[in-house]
Amino acid sequence: MRPFLYAATMPRMSGNSFRVFALSDLHVDYDENFSWLEQLSDKNFQDDVLIVAGDVSEELEKLASTLQLLKSKFAHVSFTPGNHDLWVRKNQTINSFEKLHELLKLCESLGVHTAPFKIADSDNPVWIVPLFSWYVTAEQGEQSLYMPREGRDLTMAVWSDKALIRWPESELPIAEYLFSLNEIYLKKTYDAPIISFSHFLPRTDLIFPTPEEIKKYNLKRPPKLLINFSRVAGSHLLEDQIRKLGSTIHVYGHQHRNRDRFLDNINYVSYGLGYPQERERGHVRMESIEPKLIWK
Ligand SMILES: [Fe+2]
Ligand SMILES: [Fe+2]
Repeated sequence: MRPFLYAATMPRMSGNSFRVFALSDLHVDYDENFSWLEQLSDKNFQDDVLIVAGDVSEELEKLASTLQLLKSKFAHVSFTPGNHDLWVRKNQTINSFEKLHELLKLCESLGVHTAPFKIADSDNPVWIVPLFSWYVTAEQGEQSLYMPREGRDLTMAVWSDKALIRWPESELPIAEYLFSLNEIYLKKTYDAPIISFSHFLPRTDLIFPTPEEIKKYNLKRPPKLLINFSRVAGSHLLEDQIRKLGSTIHVYGHQHRNRDRFLDNINYVSYGLGYPQERERGHVRMESIEPKLIWK
């Protein structure tokens, strides 16, 4: 069983030029987050593309209603699943592998892109390329983004994925499987700039704020945070795939810390809603009441 692998050229919805916006970590299980999406204009984005870089909801019904809402506001919505989207509870018979494929079928039925597509505009064409991703743990090898950190080096047991991701033993390990699904996209020829996106992080240096960001945003250390996020952050394999693609911009999510950095000729952008309490504390900084504009 494989996801739907297709590549298509999409006409613009009108004569107007389009823009591309990015958002991740919608976590609509929080009502405040769903309300944030509802307040987005029904008119302003009708020619535009929205990238949704994972973690919408662990409930397929909520994922469906959220994507439907966003489809009513944007010309195109492109989505890749995050870890929360693949969570399954003990009372559910479905496993995470089956849920992934349910979710991809759902996206297809809603007209939400989960594979590369090009926005046809002779002046300003662009490819949108979703990349499946997962993290590689420290125990799984050197492709992990893991960095030991004294005093906060707990095991994987603190992460909910340990209990809520059920992956069948008969399949490739989850990270290996998901990265292998991108191979077909890497072989394709792209005739316009590429905006790629993933849920997980491609680089260790994106995990931490720079001294300039700490100063600019007056960032404070989260209280008593003893976890080591680098255990579950992502993988260098993703960075290899982004470089092979030749992305101009790469959007990612998962870390609930928003970034906008230019590193080795690629603009890395993370812009997530995160949890309401993270926004209140200022750990997730929203620049406006709209998703982040990344291309126009
Ligand atoms: Fe998240
Ligand atoms: Fe996540």
